[in-house]
Amino acid sequence: MKGIILAGGSGTRLAPVTLAVSKQLVPVYDKPLIYYPLSVLMLAGVSDVLVITTPMDRPQYERLLGDGSALGIRLTYAEQSSPNGLAEAFLIGADHVGDDSVALILGDNIFHGLGMSDLLRRSAESVKGCVLFGYPVSDPERYGVGEADDDGFLVSIEEKPEQPRSNRAITGLYLYDNDVTSIAGRLTPSARGELEITDVNRVYLERGQARLVDLGRGFAWMDAGTHASLLEASQYVRTLEQRQGVRIACLEEIALRMGYIDSDQCYRLGQRVANSEYGRYVMAVAQSGFDGGASR
Ligand code: G1P
Repeated sequence: MKGIILAGGSGTRLAPVTLAVSKQLVPVYDKPLIYYPLSVLMLAGVSDVLVITTPMDRPQYERLLGDGSALGIRLTYAEQSSPNGLAEAFLIGADHVGDDSVALILGDNIFHGLGMSDLLRRSAESVKGCVLFGYPVSDPERYGVGEADDDGFLVSIEEKPEQPRSNRAITGLYLYDNDVTSIAGRLTPSARGELEITDVNRVYLERGQARLVDLGRGFAWMDAGTHASLLEASQYVRTLEQRQGVRIACLEEIALRMGYIDSDQCYRLGQRVANSEYGRYVMAVAQSGFDGGASR
């Protein structure tokens, strides 16, 4: 399975923070926002990832993450020149997807919870149709909203409905079979002029091939799209990290635990940023060996 992180957009809701810096590069406590969605893909076993950014921001992402080889993964970059919608990711990324299945994750979505990596790895195995992840929220009108039948298949989906039919938001992590590129190619722009991911998902719904997996109470899902939600996400990460002494979305640790790099490589990555607590944590993880367990 290939991966795509969509880190485009102008982040207008976070201005003036985002006047000079891309939204997905701003910090969520101790690391850039994009570390969180990248960690989700890595934990799902996806190690070939296309990062889609604006043309202006691309050099910063390349400077931060490089070609991924330091983490034992492959990262490539592409540009979305104007905000034409989430589903455009599959047109921009068609060559990257090739004849594989694909996981799309939005660059501002943060997922955390016990069993996350097992759930993802199970869901990512032999995707037929699409797999969406639902999360109960108190303000569903801000999101795509879905309903599922007793077998977990999607029966309705609406984008930002005024009268939501359920409280289940569709999160920004989507798994698709290879048909997604041709489905996206046939879409027409919505009333707001965008190629909507919800329209892609509706095609799979009509085929009876859209599964909706619930992320229940044991999970945290946050989109860091506003100043308040960015602060809340930082506080959440800080609280857990300080209390437990572990780090969420530490890419070097995940790469080590997934077997993408060895402990010597991990230690050297920590050394590069040894003046920070993050760097010292990476070095300590490398030195302590590891138990092979999930890291988030
Ligand atoms: C997008 C999707 C929406 C989804 C949300 C998750 O909304 O259109 O269906 O629920 O991401 O973060 P946007 O953030 O573009 O408003």
